[in-house]
Amino acid sequence: MPIVIIAIPKETAEREKRVALIPDTVSKLVENNHEVWVESNAGKASSYLDEAYQSAGANIINNRTTLFSDADILISIQSPAQDDLSKMKSESVLICLLWALQNEDLVNFLQEQNITALGMDAIPRISRAQSMDALSSMSSIAGYKSALIAANELDRYMPMMMTAAGTVAPAKVLVLGAGVAGLQAIATTKRLGAKVEAFDIRPAVKEQVESLGATFVEVPDLDDESETESGYAKELAEDEQERQRQVIHEHAQKSDIIITTALIPGKPAPLLVTKQMVNDMHAGAVIVDLAAEQGGNCELTTPGETTIVNEVKVIGPLNIPSMLAYHASQLYSKNMLSLLDHLIKDGKPEFDFEDEITLHTTITHQGKIISPVLKNN
Ligand code: NAI
Repeated sequence: MPIVIIAIPKETAEREKRVALIPDTVSKLVENNHEVWVESNAGKASSYLDEAYQSAGANIINNRTTLFSDADILISIQSPAQDDLSKMKSESVLICLLWALQNEDLVNFLQEQNITALGMDAIPRISRAQSMDALSSMSSIAGYKSALIAANELDRYMPMMMTAAGTVAPAKVLVLGAGVAGLQAIATTKRLGAKVEAFDIRPAVKEQVESLGATFVEVPDLDDESETESGYAKELAEDEQERQRQVIHEHAQKSDIIITTALIPGKPAPLLVTKQMVNDMHAGAVIVDLAAEQGGNCELTTPGETTIVNEVKVIGPLNIPSMLAYHASQLYSKNMLSLLDHLIKDGKPEFDFEDEITLHTTITHQGKIISPVLKNN
């Protein structure tokens, strides 16, 4: 059987503390006769030390150039810089979060270099691919942490408290966008004892919101076809957006916390919370905008910063999964192992584009674009 070198570099992007494979996963790959190379200290920021990788059977590599130039399959979280990618050999494989639709230059470069590139963000949301779904793993972490950030920044209790000094009402939380992140934000704020309301434009979500014990906010006369075939949201018409904002405005005025998570694939994040709404919230209220990376759901969000307007805090955190780097790495690593199990046949990766998962996940192969989403864009 051919020996394939699977290599894991240390992440270099700002705020990135995760590592693409953890020692536990490495030992499974080694058991399957793969050679695994890990750049020295690649897992240190997420508490996975070189010794653990060594015990799992990995080779620790100090020379980053060697790691890139000898790898058959290079696995990372973020896409490495072009300087690193230029060292990869022709026909080698790169698997990471590529965000191909937003990174045209990178995709062109990978084509020119004849690198087969797979996007962990492009795995189709089908049941068969659930164990590979890194977007869900990371969104779930982001939703959980957003609730904790909000609770930490709020100058009030989250649960109802009955004390000798009087009774404190529970905090009121409004979650906008109830996909994977939003549902986890609802579950976490509920566990902390808050009173939670949520809204999403996909009607299918109502039942999920209610099953978590939150109230679903209804916006009248929204298009029933607000969901694409792949389960993602569509952009609302202008009049629908206006009706939605009126309803959100009413609920925002009564909220102590708003957590926004609304995204539309390939588009800037929809504007849900206007400056006027923030002005009408009470002093001490907190907004956590999980869509900050895509421009934000709140008009006043500055990505990576906290803005205070009329004593309302608007928080635009970036790369939240990296804040829980240990578990984020563990889940990403498991997602990656499932994808590798799917791809590797008889010891080496095989690209069968009749298979829906391989077709949609492969962005470039043999100098061509493969992803149908990218081709049709
Ligand atoms: P996402 O991160 O793309 O968007 C977050 C949420 O924002 C979505 O629920 C979306 O409907 C909502 N949204 C968009 N525009 C909005 C607006 N104007 N106002 C309010 N909400 C708005 O979504 P995510 O979390 O990645 O999930 C996408 C879909 O994929 C969901 O239907 C989810 O259930 C499905 N899914 C399926 C899986 C599977 O079958 N393997 C795994 C994970 C997700």
